[in-house]
Amino acid sequence: MKTIIQTVDRKNLISKDFEKAAELLRQGQLVAFPTETVYGLGGNALDETAARRIYEAKGRPSDNPLIVHIADMNALDELAVEIPKEGYQLADAFWPGPLTMIFKKSEVVPYSTTGGLDTVAIRMPSDPIAAMLIQESGLFLAAPSANSSGRPSTTKAEHVIEDLSGKISMIIDGGAVDIGLESTIVDLSGEKPMILRPGFITKEQLSDVIGDVEYDRAVLKREKNENVVAKAPGMKYKHYAPKGELTIYEGDMSNVITRINQESKVKADLGESIGILATDETKHCYQYGIVKSIGSRSDEKAIASHLFDILREFDTLGISYIYSESFGDNNLGQAIMNRLLKAAGYHIITV
Ligand code: TXA
Ligand code: MG
Repeated sequence: MKTIIQTVDRKNLISKDFEKAAELLRQGQLVAFPTETVYGLGGNALDETAARRIYEAKGRPSDNPLIVHIADMNALDELAVEIPKEGYQLADAFWPGPLTMIFKKSEVVPYSTTGGLDTVAIRMPSDPIAAMLIQESGLFLAAPSANSSGRPSTTKAEHVIEDLSGKISMIIDGGAVDIGLESTIVDLSGEKPMILRPGFITKEQLSDVIGDVEYDRAVLKREKNENVVAKAPGMKYKHYAPKGELTIYEGDMSNVITRINQESKVKADLGESIGILATDETKHCYQYGIVKSIGSRSDEKAIASHLFDILREFDTLGISYIYSESFGDNNLGQAIMNRLLKAAGYHIITV
């Protein structure tokens, strides 16, 4: 399949930009598009064939449900039933934006979209390209992150081309995304609101609106063998993994630097290729390998938005061993460490 790459100018969006994409989506084809979090791989959420094509293109297990993207509040009432008041309160506070909510599904949502579950994940993205694509197509768009299953999510059209070119009908290139980590997921279908995936919208922000919210135990997992079953089916799979072996070091920063220099020397002496995931404050301290700064430690937003890009860059460079510093878990740090730990297969060493 030839993949059409359509570039749009986000400062000057016109409905003509979306004509072809909307037509393809209405035919059940797949179109990747930017959102404020990561690129999504979109298909008609109510069309079983489109959902199947999404799983196929990503190589994703079909029990891993998709998020349905909407552009207005009427859609929420169409797709979900028994919506608790917290759902409307959170929508009011954070939609459009990087928050996904899980509700009991209505009959119109096929099980192929929800991975066989009776619940549905719904998000109203704020990126104007995503919003316009949904509107122009007249559909609800099922859209997982637009990466091959298991690889880091995509934050630039180039990443999507790398993973999905030849497998989908179109990629809309709207440049680099804003946030760079996937949306916060809150499950409102059970007794208590539960965070299934941390993201840009923090636990504190959610609590400010609806009171008590808890993390699903799988979110706080720090060790590979910790036996917790993730409530978001996708969170149990191998995720975000670069091709190289990634190890995270945490502890006093000078110890971390010393240890990374020791470990990377051993590998360098063996002729292995090494990548160091450092920060602006520490990038001068490393002696071996290719050192990349993810940003300043004081700028969580920069760290979040560069994480997947850096992991992919190490892949492009053919790096075999990646050593990473660790980050605090305040605010966005919770989401950053969640993704980094998964990318490392929970391989974290305290020094
Ligand atoms: O920011 C985002 O959310 C991006 C952009 C494209 O919107 N999308 C995204 O989708 O990250 P995906 O498919 O890569 O991740 C969705 C996660 C998976 O872990 C999946 O298991 C979980 O949401 N999920 C979806 N529906 C669910 C449901 N009904 N119950 C529990 N978890 C669900
Ligand atoms: Mg994903």
